Amino acid sequence: MTINKHILLGVSGGIAAYKSAELVRLLKKQGAEVQVVMTQSAMQFVSPLTFQALSGNPVHSELLDADAENAMGHISLARWADCLLIAPATANLIAKLSHGLADDLLSTLYLAATCPVYVAPAMNQAMWNKTVTQENVETLQRHGVKLIGPEQGDQACGETGYGRMSEPVAICNYLADALENQNPSPVQCLQGLNVLISAGPTREPIDPVRYLTNRSSGKMGYALANAALKAGAEVTLVSGPVSLTAPANVQLIKVETAAQMYEAVMSRASDHAIYIGAAAVADYSPVIMQPEKIKKQEEQSTLILQKTKDILADVAKLDKHPFTVGFAAETHNLEVYARDKLARKKLDMIAANWVGKEQGGFDSEQNALHVFWEKGDKVFSMTDKTRLAEQLISLIAERFNTT
Ligand code: PMT
Repeated sequence: MTINKHILLGVSGGIAAYKSAELVRLLKKQGAEVQVVMTQSAMQFVSPLTFQALSGNPVHSELLDADAENAMGHISLARWADCLLIAPATANLIAKLSHGLADDLLSTLYLAATCPVYVAPAMNQAMWNKTVTQENVETLQRHGVKLIGPEQGDQACGETGYGRMSEPVAICNYLADALENQNPSPVQCLQGLNVLISAGPTREPIDPVRYLTNRSSGKMGYALANAALKAGAEVTLVSGPVSLTAPANVQLIKVETAAQMYEAVMSRASDHAIYIGAAAVADYSPVIMQPEKIKKQEEQSTLILQKTKDILADVAKLDKHPFTVGFAAETHNLEVYARDKLARKKLDMIAANWVGKEQGGFDSEQNALHVFWEKGDKVFSMTDKTRLAEQLISLIAERFNTT
């Protein structure tokens, strides 16, 4: 992938600033022209000289600098940029941006920028989870800013949780994808259509620390979201908990339980032309979530489960229902079970995959599908999920246009 664009990289003051040096190197390697803007606190972590050497351009940090205003002042910098990427974005910077404060060069640039803005947050997990930070992030997203990460894992402060900045290579790939999707590919088979996709597993809580889930990684659903975007669709992705970064330009709705996924999908389905249910939704969830951690007592213990609502079947039953595509994950009798689901749930199509085998299905890079509709079927042999998703999206578009 290449990024033949002008990237304005904003670096704010967090320990993850050291990763931004690698980010500059990767962006340059992909063909981007990079200019770096640093906040005062970022310069406490990494020297501007590092960024100057890597980007091949002087580093900008002063808002009111007579020399800079003559050469590359904030307005010229904002005009120069094809994209503003802020990595790392601290909690403080996110708060400033969400409130429109402009008291230094980077926050002023954000206000002056008319190009797409991408933000890769980095902070302690408690700071990330704080309601006010989440509200600020939501405000930014409402204003059209795209979020990259953060990721879950060990943090520099010794804690573990969400708040780690995404790795430079992931940010770089995300950006390359996002910028490529700004100029859609010539095959626009879903141009102008709204597509709703569910992906990933659900988690059904047993008590405050335990839950029932499955092995879905979300890769298949996320690949479909990407392929639908490339085909020109407006994509809404309802995702269970996964450790993937959603494709740029999709509307991402994060959920945890089957009930939340039901709500998220059902409230939107009628506004979409196509629904693809790639999520591995729990079929059963505990009747009661115990408010306190269950203590180890008896040799055996029983968990009472109740059936969850079937999202796919209920979408297909809606008066104004989208073209509905289900998945079937089977360990045996694939065709029989898939055709049964197709008919019983009144679906337009079903994509069946073998699971529990050595290759394909859950949490693997590759998969194969046998797709069925009322009067036909098609086999897609084992390939990576990106390619497979493109094949399935083309078939969905073809079937959608003939029904
Ligand atoms: O996420 P990956 O690791 O990439 O793996 C991909 C996958 C194997 C999860 C994916 O390809 C897949 O098969 N997804 C559907 C998994 C599944 O739950 O299959 P199922 O046969 O149990 O369900 C049939 C269909 O009903 C599915 O479309 C499912 O989304 C839907 N369903 C199920 C239960 C429920 N309560 N509501 C639903 O909508």
